[in-house]
Amino acid sequence: MILLDGRKVADDLKAKLALDVVEFEKAYHRKPCLKVIIVGNDPASMVYVKSKHMACQKVGMGSEIINLDSNVTQANLENEIQKLNNDNNVDGILVQLPVPKHIDLTAVLKTIDPKKDADGLTFLSAGYLWSDFEHVQPCTPSGVIKILDFYNIPLKGKRAVVIGRSQIVGKPMAALLLKKNATVTIAHSGTENLRHVVQDAEVVVVAAGKMSFFGSEYFNKNHVVVDVGIHKDLNGKLGGDVKFDEVSAVVKAITPVPGGVGPMTIACLLENTIKLARMRMAKA
Ligand code: GUN
Repeated sequence: MILLDGRKVADDLKAKLALDVVEFEKAYHRKPCLKVIIVGNDPASMVYVKSKHMACQKVGMGSEIINLDSNVTQANLENEIQKLNNDNNVDGILVQLPVPKHIDLTAVLKTIDPKKDADGLTFLSAGYLWSDFEHVQPCTPSGVIKILDFYNIPLKGKRAVVIGRSQIVGKPMAALLLKKNATVTIAHSGTENLRHVVQDAEVVVVAAGKMSFFGSEYFNKNHVVVDVGIHKDLNGKLGGDVKFDEVSAVVKAITPVPGGVGPMTIACLLENTIKLARMRMAKA
């Protein structure tokens, strides 16, 4: 079994990004800068946001966490985003998800300037993604592809199944696998006989959001499994959608949780911000 070590791939990417930051600073006399908006204080989201902030600092980028009250109005949140849209020293904007129920997420995404869409989640970014137009790609799927590339996992002509159809992972993941010329199936909670759907695939990306849901009965020795889930059990232990201990014993390769996709999501966020910074400054 090959352990697909996302931490290692992320460390390599961040080392390269640190050099890109130095180059950017030489050219434009400022650091690329990411601003992360978090609404409320959901503990898991707070941890993610802090990790993003620390990763920015580690590669020498500017970054700030903007913590808005959980009761913030739609207008005030959109106003905060507009300020960042108009600030020439801000290159990337990320609104941490999920946002509270009273917030209209569609309107929030429409407010983010796609030229600063570090998450690749705006509707224009999604359109670019499916149109093969050069732009930033959503961080988690982008990270998954980089892990598979790093370990030379073939995708061209191979069958890939994505389990999950979210806007943030499942759908863009399918787009990126298709770009790599895989034959892609999107499975989801309504899929009948999922085991049968997965059986003949070479690559399975699991993004169902269900803790320890997928055991060895789903997998075989031909499978490369990427686990996008991240959950904390009652004892505070982190794990994914896949039962790692039993599945790692039967498959060809698998990402661990933690230390798989998570670190790559953050590294790709930094990469996106630097890319957007360069694209915007080159046009200025
Ligand atoms: N919440 C969990 N993952 C993510 C992510 O990649 N981006 C944003 N904006 N929110 C998230």
